[in-house]
Amino acid sequence: MGRLDGKVALITGAGKGIGAASARMFAREGAKIVCTDLDEEAGEAVVADINAKGGLAVFMRHQVTDEIEWEAAVALARHKFGGLHVVLNNAGIATPGAPVEDMTIEQWRHTLAVNLDGVFLGCKHGVRAIKETTAKGGPGGSIINVSSILGLVGNANSADYNSAKGGVRLLTKCVALECAEAGYRIRVNSIHPGYIDTPLVRNAANSMGGGDAAGANAVLDMLVTAHPIGRLGIADEIASAALYLASDESSFTTGSEMVVDGGYTCR
Ligand SMILES: NC(=O)c1ccc[n+]([C@@H]2O[C@H](COP(=O)([O-])OP(=O)(O)OC[C@H]3O[C@@H](n4cnc5c(N)ncnc54)[C@H](O)[C@@H]3O)[C@@H](O)[C@H]2O)c1
Repeated sequence: MGRLDGKVALITGAGKGIGAASARMFAREGAKIVCTDLDEEAGEAVVADINAKGGLAVFMRHQVTDEIEWEAAVALARHKFGGLHVVLNNAGIATPGAPVEDMTIEQWRHTLAVNLDGVFLGCKHGVRAIKETTAKGGPGGSIINVSSILGLVGNANSADYNSAKGGVRLLTKCVALECAEAGYRIRVNSIHPGYIDTPLVRNAANSMGGGDAAGANAVLDMLVTAHPIGRLGIADEIASAALYLASDESSFTTGSEMVVDGGYTCR
């Protein structure tokens, strides 16, 4: 028995990093998956791998800031797999750091659009579709929003990223309350990863480190020391948290913020 048997999940940003690890893990646990991403090549490769290993997944190119594309993604889940139970709002971007006094309004709006508006649209269309599917009986529904430790604590030079991720934290609690009070069978929770070794962090370390390997390694070493556990996380460790929240094992958990950060925020 898989922990997600009978469920259909939609995962954004499924082409790389945490989204790709979650798609693979959810499929191994029996879910049928709609994988979406802007990066078609990466998303198609993840889907091909899942299907080659006996899972069931489809890919759709999807810009998470576009409401029409959200409608199409949810319609694909209905059409291919008969409904929707889980949305993992994972797609997100890191941004070039800048002090607030130098940050352009364009940078601010772009970060908020992807990292907060995208999650809002995922909640909006997720609630509508999951409500309809779960009203017919069968397994319950779950929306999981990937925030960050930087949605819990401040950080110099990333007001845009932290504000978006902090917004995701409270958006999650509002939607959790709406679903509970309306009697929908949908739980809504956020995950707050520490620094995880994914393309997002590697690319950020490269640019912060001045573009050479020594500089990037120095940034990564500095990030490691910020985690009491003494290393960066790996994508599977966040996928495991998402799996728990997607499964019925977390049936009494809603509106919660699951911190998976190697101790970063304990200090
Ligand atoms: N890696 C970390 O240390 C870390 C820590 C905390 C939170 N997070 C969050 O976890 C999530 C995943 O991060 P990751 O490290 O796996 O990133 P990643 O860059 O490795 O993968 C993100 C994926 O999202 C896709 N994507 C980006 N913008 C998109 C858009 N507008 N529409 C659709 N797809 C889009 C990318 O193409 C990519 O495949 C993000 O929300 C990120 O903010 C990451």
